[in-house]
Amino acid sequence: MATNITFHPGSVTKEERDGLLKQKGVTIWLTGLSASGKSTIACALEQHLLHLQKFTYRLDGDNIRFGLNKDLGFDEKSRNENIRRIGEVSKLFSDASAVTITAFISPYRQDRAVARDLHEKASIPFVEVFVDAPLSVVEERDPKGLYKKARAGEIKEFTGISAPYEAPEKPEIHIRTDETSVVEAVQKITDYLITNGYLS
Ligand code: PPS
Repeated sequence: MATNITFHPGSVTKEERDGLLKQKGVTIWLTGLSASGKSTIACALEQHLLHLQKFTYRLDGDNIRFGLNKDLGFDEKSRNENIRRIGEVSKLFSDASAVTITAFISPYRQDRAVARDLHEKASIPFVEVFVDAPLSVVEERDPKGLYKKARAGEIKEFTGISAPYEAPEKPEIHIRTDETSVVEAVQKITDYLITNGYLS
């Protein structure tokens, strides 16, 4: 960490930004195995919220790795750093009053806890959504052929095969995507946001 730096607070508050946009910033953190449905749900949720006239922003693992995080691989340290940065970026978007939707495997509990803590310290709601499907199901889906490659040893440290996935113990929302449609999943998340006063 750099030394000789001083935090400079502004005079415009989050409440004033929220008031201008007539909404509250909140981070909806989707976590789950590759092909569990994170990106599909994130895109559908984004569409649904747009129709409700909400300002949203979506951060997606594959996409972010083309830019901001293109220097990171899939070893444990790189994933820690990937999620640390996304925790910071999502906090900034939510601080700017966006309904922020993140879709990252985020396989380590500790990394997700750090992201949550960061939000809570800034009084920004953090809604962890476990996008859950059994390994047998996601392996069967295998839309990008990655599980096949991982089984053949062509991809190292592949989540669920040769790298860990630590399932959330107490997510705010748990969605079994092998038993729930995308529309139902979006409705479940929206209902949660409304019930908890994060969306009006
Ligand atoms: S992580 O674990 O949160 O840092 O991963 P994330 O940034 O979400 O990126 C996951 C996407 O990268 C592709 N991919 C891999 N996933 C897991 N393990 C390995 N080794 C790997 N290599 C490439 C894959 O397309 C993931 O996308 P999703 O949408 O999850 O299928």
